[in-house]
Amino acid sequence: MDLKGRSLLSLVDYTAEEIRFLLDESKRLKAKFKAFERNELPLEGLTLGMIFQKRSTRTRVSTEVAMYYLGGHALFLSSADIQLGSGETIKDTSRVLSRMVDGVLARVYAHEDVEELVKYSTVPIINALSDKYHPLQILADLLTIEEHKGRLEGLKLAWVGDGNNVCNSLMIGCAKMGMDVSVATPKGYEPSNDTIALAEEFADVTGANITITSNAVSAVTDADIVVTDTFISMGEEDQEKAKLAAFNDYIVTEELCSNAKSDYVFMHCLPYKHKEATEEVFESDHSIVFDEAENRLHTVMAVLNNLLR
Ligand code: CP
Ligand code: NVA
Repeated sequence: MDLKGRSLLSLVDYTAEEIRFLLDESKRLKAKFKAFERNELPLEGLTLGMIFQKRSTRTRVSTEVAMYYLGGHALFLSSADIQLGSGETIKDTSRVLSRMVDGVLARVYAHEDVEELVKYSTVPIINALSDKYHPLQILADLLTIEEHKGRLEGLKLAWVGDGNNVCNSLMIGCAKMGMDVSVATPKGYEPSNDTIALAEEFADVTGANITITSNAVSAVTDADIVVTDTFISMGEEDQEKAKLAAFNDYIVTEELCSNAKSDYVFMHCLPYKHKEATEEVFESDHSIVFDEAENRLHTVMAVLNNLLR
């Protein structure tokens, strides 16, 4: 399958077959990762610009390490380092970077900014988290689920928390891979209507079910996977008090998880802020959060190896 030159802004534009290909590629690269053949450097001579307007541990480290292992070079470009942070436009940044690097990975606030990068870029753009989507995270999540459950299709994933970027991407990715998704959010924090409509469209094709509720117990009932994320996303720090109050009934506790299947797994993209799930759940045998974090490396390797020109 040839994905060379493609951008990755969300999983919306990737077919189930292309997602499956990237997951299989991740497994292939993961299997050889520890004994990586140093004479096999598929991205030798290629460079990746990494724009970060927000903090990152996993995305930055996994991408830099991936570029190193694949033989390429990554440049970390935070807002404090490049002119984008002091008024140069996305349009000009994109046109300049396109002439110097072979791909751009960007973590931005507004999703429109990664769309603007694509508009003016001649090299692939990879979304490393916007306010709307986090596709790299979901590739890692799908790989982790498949490793633990042996399949994706037919599983039920329950999301309890904020209906924003990670939730949106999970709805799209899971619906495409035939997984049921039950989303429980407080009223006013549901995923956007356009994301629900897209997820339902993809679910219709695979026979999956998408449910949106404000009832955390009903979302988690009989779930194979229980997932949450921080209640306070980057850029929302000024809303902390109001959001913690709104999400008080959406903390993932052992009691809530007792409604899931007995062999449920708990996932969290991290960073864990200690408000959204209890320590008992986070540290329990059900928790696979560090397998999930490690898989950020193997899946971004698959993405870079196949998309960069
Ligand atoms: N899950 C995730 O994207 O983590 P970072 O913010 O550390 O990159
Ligand atoms: N929803 C979180 C995800 C962090 C990886 C945020 O946007 O900050």
